Amino acid sequence: MTVDEAREKLALCGQTHVLEWWDSIGEESRQSLLSQVKALDAAALGRMAAMLRGEGPAAAPAGIAPADVVELGGQDRAVAIARGEELIRAGEVGVLLVAGGQGSRLGFDGPKGIYEIGPVSDASLFEIHARKVLSLERAFGCHVPLYIMTSDINDAATREFFSKKAFFGLSPDRVRFFVQGMWPALDGDGRVILDEPGHIFMSPDGHGGILRALAENGMFRDMERRGITTLFYFQVDNPMVEVADPAFIGLHAIRGADVSVKVCAKRDPSEGLGVVVKKDGRNAIVEYTELSSAQKEARGADGRLRFLYGSVAIHVFSLDFLVGESKRDLPLHVAHKKVPFVGADGKAVKPDAPNGFKFEKFIFDVLPDAGTVVNLAFERGDEFSPVKNANGADSPATTRRDMALKFARWLEWCGVKVPRDGDGLPAMKIEIDPCFASNREQLRKRLPPGFSISGDVLLRN
Ligand code: UTP
Repeated sequence: MTVDEAREKLALCGQTHVLEWWDSIGEESRQSLLSQVKALDAAALGRMAAMLRGEGPAAAPAGIAPADVVELGGQDRAVAIARGEELIRAGEVGVLLVAGGQGSRLGFDGPKGIYEIGPVSDASLFEIHARKVLSLERAFGCHVPLYIMTSDINDAATREFFSKKAFFGLSPDRVRFFVQGMWPALDGDGRVILDEPGHIFMSPDGHGGILRALAENGMFRDMERRGITTLFYFQVDNPMVEVADPAFIGLHAIRGADVSVKVCAKRDPSEGLGVVVKKDGRNAIVEYTELSSAQKEARGADGRLRFLYGSVAIHVFSLDFLVGESKRDLPLHVAHKKVPFVGADGKAVKPDAPNGFKFEKFIFDVLPDAGTVVNLAFERGDEFSPVKNANGADSPATTRRDMALKFARWLEWCGVKVPRDGDGLPAMKIEIDPCFASNREQLRKRLPPGFSISGDVLLRN
């Protein structure tokens, strides 16, 4: 793109200030700025500016009711597991891992997936996820491709980590990385923010960016070539996830669903999980921030929260449905954030208070388009404890505690005595590698006869 073409495009978008420092920046910065202008999505910019003018969808959606939730047990569960296993064995299931986020709350320097969370082994989040996929391939004698979404901020480091760790035993041919899009941030007047005189501030376009990223990087074609029909989706920060849970996949298939959602009871009204709802006969997930206080606090006759079930971003998607969704625009969500900017003197400034608006797409906004949606309830302690914050709730300490509690319950179910402290927590560190056992039934088969605990436990192949 030439500078004249850039001027023309920016004038059409009302963003001519982007070239304000053009005369004072070097040739290298000029070239990179031109590439940034070329990549700017003019249509998305128009939608962002309209949203800031208050023309977007209203917050606190009215007319919503709690969605139906399935509690799967007994014979129905056994049937669902059998169907899910059949699909996995046939090589129809792929795994989608979103790992393009910035992990700013954790404050870890590097891709969040590199963070070491294994209570005994110090295994990284990526290692735990990859070994769950490996354990499926081994258990079912099949191929389970792993598609990992990164972003410009962590793509190189993520690929390097997987290479350095020999893909944790997975075949490199079945681990596909693809990079999501980046979006600019706007100031209160709808102007794109520069963070250096020759550079537009950009950040990842949200986990909903996965749809366009899958399409533009040829991942849908790759999936079709491999015979994938069904995708298991999860986030990098939850090492407790049951990757490609056969019951979940099987239920999705039996019901002929486009999307399935794992849900658990919210800890309290203020927990930041989006809730599953029905609106005008369609399914949806409403973000915690978009519910009114009355909606958050509302209770039914049984005293339980009316909007009790929260989504933890564990989904199953039918491939055909996702391909269709990748052709339409998802709605935008906006957040007021601190965005570095160039001051009048051309120097970079790190603001102390929010000064800019960042926009993101969320994957769950595909729900209203889905024909059939299944919301499957699960016990939080079995599958969900994310690493979000450096301290407090949803931090490495609580995740390690929840992993230890889960593994202790598995061992106790197998008849092993687990010493506990006064708070009921296991008195030692416990970790079970996914390739040793990825559920308690497998653990029972693998434990040596007479197994007992005398110190920290690491069960690993
Ligand atoms: P979060 O919303 O928790 O954000 O992402 P984050 O970026 O990891 O962390 P904070 O908010 O900066 O502290 C949930 C999941 O979605 C992925 C993340 O990598 C994580 O797995 N994600 C998020 C993306 O892949 N891309 C995005 O643009 C945003």
